[in-house]
Amino acid sequence: MVAQLIDGKALAIKLRREIANTIDKRVAQGLSRPGLAVILVGEDPASLIYVRNKRLACDEVGIQSSYYHLPATVTTMELMNVIQRVNEEKTVHGILLQLPLPSHIDDDVLELIDPKKDVDGFHPYNLGRLAQRRPLLRPCTPYGIMKMLDSMGQQYKGKHAVIVGASNIVGRPMALELLMAGSTVTVCHRFTADLGSFVSQGDIVVAAAGRPGLVKGEWIKPGATVIDVAMNRLENGSIIGDVEFIKAKENAAWITPVPGGVGPMTVVMLLQNTLSAAISRDSVLPT
Ligand code: GUN
Repeated sequence: MVAQLIDGKALAIKLRREIANTIDKRVAQGLSRPGLAVILVGEDPASLIYVRNKRLACDEVGIQSSYYHLPATVTTMELMNVIQRVNEEKTVHGILLQLPLPSHIDDDVLELIDPKKDVDGFHPYNLGRLAQRRPLLRPCTPYGIMKMLDSMGQQYKGKHAVIVGASNIVGRPMALELLMAGSTVTVCHRFTADLGSFVSQGDIVVAAAGRPGLVKGEWIKPGATVIDVAMNRLENGSIIGDVEFIKAKENAAWITPVPGGVGPMTVVMLLQNTLSAAISRDSVLPT
């Protein structure tokens, strides 16, 4: 078997177009243009690129983005003040606080973001809603992966989903998404013994550990769906995932490429969440 590629890029383009059309229609009806406040602390090179891409994507679909680029030396109190300001700003429907934060900043600041504007879905309220199968704003990467799986007709019930990596951003919310969809879910992490014995049971495998080549191609169950979330930059500048792609492709039925798989979907789900936040606000507070 040679796996078919799951083209996240093509799906993301299609969804972006739909989001742009919906925004055009809203604005033509006199409703507010969705607004996203992007907050970046410091100069982490990868974060600078992510934030730039997210803002460009906003421009492309007609979301108004505002940018708060704070120095790495900012205090927790100063960051809290910025969050408070955008929480109250009527033209802002979504707030993105780019992670990771410098180590001197208390991670609890994430909880200050108004859950209705929490377009990353990281606030304990939004994660709690997802855990209770009553999701509101959902973490972008796992949500985007569900859209990709849905688009290729993935079945969930009676399937075993194996997630490699237990981060707050991907692994844990991914487990909640797949559980909600009806799969049996196993979450593997750095303390898991005999990773291969779990991965080889996966009808759906989601690799999100950030360790190149961690998931051996020979472990992949014939006919499995393989989603590689990782983007590991090698010394020669090339970007590879966590899965041994060439070997895994021989066993899997479906596999995501890296890059061009999950990455574009994460950005588009941020746009979708910002639009959803604006639509929800309309229902309680007309423009
Ligand atoms: N850093 C890495 N991924 C993400 C993400 O999805 N959202 C935010 N805010 N920061 C990140």
